Amino acid sequence: MTAILEFDPAGAESIRSALGPDAIVVPSLRELREHLDVDLFEDCVVLGPSVDQIDADALAEDLRITRPTLGVVLVRQRIDTAVLSDALRAGIREVVQERDLSGIANAVRHIKEVASRQRSRLGEGGGEGPRERRARLVTVFSAKGGCGKTTLATNLAALLATSNRGTVALVDLDLSFGDVGIALQLFPTHTLADAVAMGIDLDEPGLKSLLTPHRSGLQALVAPLEPSSAETITTELVVRVLDLLAEEFDYVVIDTPPALDDHVLAAFDKSDLVAVMATLDIPALKNLKLTLETLELISFPRERLAVVLNRADSKVGLAIGEVEKTLKAPIVAQIPSSRDVPASTNRGVPLTTDDPKNPVSVAIRQFMEQVVVPSEKDAIPTEMRSDRRGGRRWKR
Ligand SMILES: Nc1ncnc2c1ncn2[C@@H]1O[C@H](COP(=O)(O)OP(=O)(O)OP(=O)(O)O)[C@@H](O)[C@H]1O
Ligand SMILES: [Mg+2]
Repeated sequence: MTAILEFDPAGAESIRSALGPDAIVVPSLRELREHLDVDLFEDCVVLGPSVDQIDADALAEDLRITRPTLGVVLVRQRIDTAVLSDALRAGIREVVQERDLSGIANAVRHIKEVASRQRSRLGEGGGEGPRERRARLVTVFSAKGGCGKTTLATNLAALLATSNRGTVALVDLDLSFGDVGIALQLFPTHTLADAVAMGIDLDEPGLKSLLTPHRSGLQALVAPLEPSSAETITTELVVRVLDLLAEEFDYVVIDTPPALDDHVLAAFDKSDLVAVMATLDIPALKNLKLTLETLELISFPRERLAVVLNRADSKVGLAIGEVEKTLKAPIVAQIPSSRDVPASTNRGVPLTTDDPKNPVSVAIRQFMEQVVVPSEKDAIPTEMRSDRRGGRRWKR
């Protein structure tokens, strides 16, 4: 897609029609920045003649650092050496005269070709080596249903997205009965089922078309609407989706079904942190213990596991210390019970962003700050980010 910023409606329309249906007009610099924050795959911006040169240069300079594959085309009424040298210094790729509509279209086409070559080169691992993985992947799991996985995953993702921690994707791997879409009141046009047609050739633009934005800023990849579609989604496809998301986002939060299936194990393998949840009842704790034992059997690094107790204040005669002793694992987070949780889910609004002072929100924020977000000293140097298999320690 191409975003056009031009304040004169007639001028904006003539540029848009020269660029075809893949171009959109944004009405202000602020909205252009918001669009770029949400559309992480945007590769071209056209700044029309009414955009102030200083603003254009400042935006281009900023994008050169934050979005190096994105190209800026500057359209001017008059082009002189001062305009050209300022543009060059700011990193603007092309400057075109406003009446030269085919020149504008050619500049955009050229930028897109370069962006596509950059992407495929990086994707192939050629030249510059494998693409940097930047995301922290967090999987939320419990072997027993109804322990609060979707509640934690949606609330954690929304909180990360609204607390300036970077870009966030939320993936619903509960392929048959996922309810992330409902919990966030999303109206998805596409789901993970649409990735099947693209197979393992799925690329960034293909993935982008499957995401549904939520107003918190997170991008959701929702589960298929038809439970039967789940069967068509292979583990290889899930791995491809997670790898692509890990390249594009700062955080990827994964909700799961209550079963240790191949998709879930693949997500574990890719995850920096697996939050294993239980409630204070014997069936949930038994399943949690079995999960921990299974993970030990497959040599899953213990430091990547975090046991989270939901409804931890329930008075059911089980002491937390006893539970930890039985599990042989510390409980790193305790989320209390609150009627506000189902009420917020029914409204389709995450409690963490709707009512930050609610004890449930406070507990999830603490979990985010103390466990999910790595401390400075644990931050992985950029050059090591593509290899996460080694056990990395998280701040506890
Ligand atoms: N801390 C809490 N206090 C009160 N209600 C809660 C709490 N956490 C979750 N719930 C409620 O419990 C129910 C199950 O929660 P949720 O859907 O998050 O569980 P789940 O593990 O995703 O379930 P499933 O295994 O079916 O996917 C929901 O109605 C939710 O609103
Ligand atoms: Mg769920």
